[in-house]
Amino acid sequence: MSVVGILAAAGRGERFGAHIPKQFLPLRGIPLVIRAARCLQEAEAVAQIVAAVPPGYQELLQRWAEEYGVQKLSRIVVGGEHRQDSVRAALETPEVQRAELVLVHDAARPFATAALVERVLQAAQRHGAAVPGIPPAETIKKVAPTGEVVQTLAREWLRRIQTPQAFRREWLVAAHAHARRLGLSATDDAALVELLGFPVVVVEGEPRNLKLTTPEDWRVAEALLQAEQ
Ligand code: C5P
Repeated sequence: MSVVGILAAAGRGERFGAHIPKQFLPLRGIPLVIRAARCLQEAEAVAQIVAAVPPGYQELLQRWAEEYGVQKLSRIVVGGEHRQDSVRAALETPEVQRAELVLVHDAARPFATAALVERVLQAAQRHGAAVPGIPPAETIKKVAPTGEVVQTLAREWLRRIQTPQAFRREWLVAAHAHARRLGLSATDDAALVELLGFPVVVVEGEPRNLKLTTPEDWRVAEALLQAEQ
């Protein structure tokens, strides 16, 4: 099984409100993008990493990869306007074109373990596409723009979906091409694969695999790292 990891690190982090994209900020001394890249670096099955970054950030990431020992990082591409465009740019690289499985991970998730990567990859090897998910602790309701509840969803059917997500390369490439042709967009890669009608299985995610979106998330991540010392 040849596996290439794609690191989606081309967001501008507007919701975060910092002067540079948040993935380039140090999280307790180590840049967030490097912490997320290490999740892929430390997974034995991942042979190479392709990262997508905002324009002007290639050199910085290259330098950090050397400094922090992310030796598997073999290519850095410039991402696009939306996450989907950034992943597609990475899919077009020769590294990915030679892979059997592609693992896509968000630079905003610094805590995914190598065990999670292996679990997702094994399921994708077997079923074609796999994503980690955890059951929500809260009740989830569908709400109209007016604020009125439309429906209360049955919680046992729901999962909060994380990255890394793994796919047979041909499925993911076909899903992105299909979405582009029809002008469809989605917030994760699995949704594009689902739109093509391919099955996606959910494996057990990790509660600690947080996505850092707001300054509040950042403080939680810092506290977790501090508690570990
Ligand atoms: O915007 P969102 O929170 O969904 O971003 C998830 C991940 O996708 C982040 O790691 C971000 O850097 C990445 N991204 C990207 N290219 C974009 C937008 C987001 O690679 N244009």
